[in-house]
Amino acid sequence: MKEVIKQICGDVAVRVFPKVSLSIARGETVPRGSLEKLISSSLIRQAALSGDHKSLRNRLSQYWQGDAGDSFYDKFADRFESSFLGGHYPLVEALIDVVNSSEGELTQLYEIGCGDGRVLHHLSGKLEGVNRFTGLDINEMIIKKNRDTYAGTSLEFHSGDATALLEEVARPGTIVMSYGGVMEYFLEEELATMFAMLKQKSPVVVALVEPLYDGYDPSLETESRPSGLELSFSHNHRHLLEQAGFTVQFQSQPEMEFRWMMIVAQG
Ligand SMILES: C[S@@+](CC[C@H](N)C(=O)[O-])C[C@H]1O[C@@H](n2cnc3c(N)ncnc32)[C@H](O)[C@@H]1O
Repeated sequence: MKEVIKQICGDVAVRVFPKVSLSIARGETVPRGSLEKLISSSLIRQAALSGDHKSLRNRLSQYWQGDAGDSFYDKFADRFESSFLGGHYPLVEALIDVVNSSEGELTQLYEIGCGDGRVLHHLSGKLEGVNRFTGLDINEMIIKKNRDTYAGTSLEFHSGDATALLEEVARPGTIVMSYGGVMEYFLEEELATMFAMLKQKSPVVVALVEPLYDGYDPSLETESRPSGLELSFSHNHRHLLEQAGFTVQFQSQPEMEFRWMMIVAQG
């Protein structure tokens, strides 16, 4: 009910404040404050309903750059202990095994959508031979905060859209990780391009922990589509990685607050 009322208010706000709405829709305004966030949610829903995946992707990126992104990290700070160190940890163990059997070939790790950096920090103490750990995130506030929090460590942080950043830095020996729902904000074709680009830099590894929202069945569907409350993209990661020439070393779908796809693949 609360969600329906929010949707109606958002749709009304889009009509009543056309200039603000246009500015958000054009990507000129990052949504801050209740009104802009309402309008942004309405635009996200409209893009998903009309099948305009490019607009949906852009609106979701804007959402993460604004207030809603800024407040996420404190609001869901318990995820690290309850989920990452809990039901998601088999992914880390699988990644450690892959790194240990790589005979020192894997030397750098980029975490896309690193958020508060705790996952990156944890991994930096676990993966032998990997000597460069970099977190990428589109939310500038959290990247600035991470630079303070992890000052004096070897961790590096960069803000910006990860697809462009990754293309500049990927080289043989790269591990690309995303944790807790990040690839869901990218288009299927962006992931296909990213995985194909990474495969060219072999040896590389991709390790993902991504949500599979209700109704998306990777044993039946290969195409990505918006799903879940946020209307972000459910992807068939295994299919996309295999299409790019990767070999899946580990896969699991734990059922926690919802289903997750955990996957480690080598290319
Ligand atoms: C659900 S949060 C997960 C954060 C963190 N990995 C965790 O589990 O706490 C999604 C993260 O992806 C980031 N993100 C979304 N779109 C992005 C993009 N295009 N490039 C880089 N980061 C992005 C958001 O800013 C946010 O920090």
